[in-house]
Amino acid sequence: MAQVLCQLPNVERDENLLVGIETSDDAAVYKINDEEAMVITVDFFTPVVDDPFVYGQIAVANSLSDVYAMGTNPKLAMNLICFPNCLSPDIMAEILKGGHDKILEAGAILVGGHTVQDDEPKYGLCAVGFVNPDKVIKNSDAKEGDILVLTKPLGLGIINSAIKGDIVEEQVYDEAVKNMTTLNKFAMEAMNRVGVNACTDITGFGLLGHALEMAEGSDKTIVLDSDRIPLIDGAVELARLGLVPEGTYANEKFIGDKVNFSDSVKREIKDMLYDPQTSGGLMISVDENRLDELLKELEKSPTKYAVIGRVEKKGEKSLIVK
Ligand code: CO
Ligand code: CO
Ligand code: CO
Repeated sequence: MAQVLCQLPNVERDENLLVGIETSDDAAVYKINDEEAMVITVDFFTPVVDDPFVYGQIAVANSLSDVYAMGTNPKLAMNLICFPNCLSPDIMAEILKGGHDKILEAGAILVGGHTVQDDEPKYGLCAVGFVNPDKVIKNSDAKEGDILVLTKPLGLGIINSAIKGDIVEEQVYDEAVKNMTTLNKFAMEAMNRVGVNACTDITGFGLLGHALEMAEGSDKTIVLDSDRIPLIDGAVELARLGLVPEGTYANEKFIGDKVNFSDSVKREIKDMLYDPQTSGGLMISVDENRLDELLKELEKSPTKYAVIGRVEKKGEKSLIVK
């Protein structure tokens, strides 16, 4: 998206626009007054699972994630839905029910939406939240010496390919669905209680893509420890079978020359790091002195979390994976 947007002749500038498209942050932030700024984002995609209710839950958890990544709660939500005439309207109702279930869980309110007839279903939200302008958490404020914490395991893109191929074991499916339907609300509240420097959510651009945005936006180098990155059980095995989605290779092709891998990092682990995530976790950049406090806050996390690396002074490469 960023590559296309930068071809626009002159994207509007406004002094109240606190976060725009420059650093590929998760959502835009527009200052209303000294106490309040609006966070706005939009996201939608095609089904990743057959169950329409679960698909609705995942699509909404994913859409709301960009608001959480900016350090606040979503407040308003509008449905965006594309749906074919040939499918029963009951299926659409189930998708919307699943979505609404997550909107309610988030404490947001559904205020409208728009439906378009299309060959393949697509669903997601435009979501809005409000935040104190001084408390916005950008992806571009990581500081030298910060520690990086990831709040959900990787492997969702690879598992989603296996789900489409109908070769996924029930246990792996359940674990993936649990992760994709979990709101990043808990992780956001934990980081807000502690106070952190930067955050982004891990979605289609994969861990490395989003880490690169953070590194470049912050003018730092990010060093990741591949042994410590949490993975969904069974995902590596699927990667070894070659069930790697197209998006993984697209991500690698796009940013591979900015990543320095140690020789010890295996091919299937690289696949996991480039793997496009659906409704992935937050990657939080926290001052070393506040790390223990953050880890304590995350103790009751509904998802696997881990320290995965650190932020260093800008070097030759923006990303180093050991
Ligand atoms: Co995002
Ligand atoms: Co997004
Ligand atoms: Co952000």
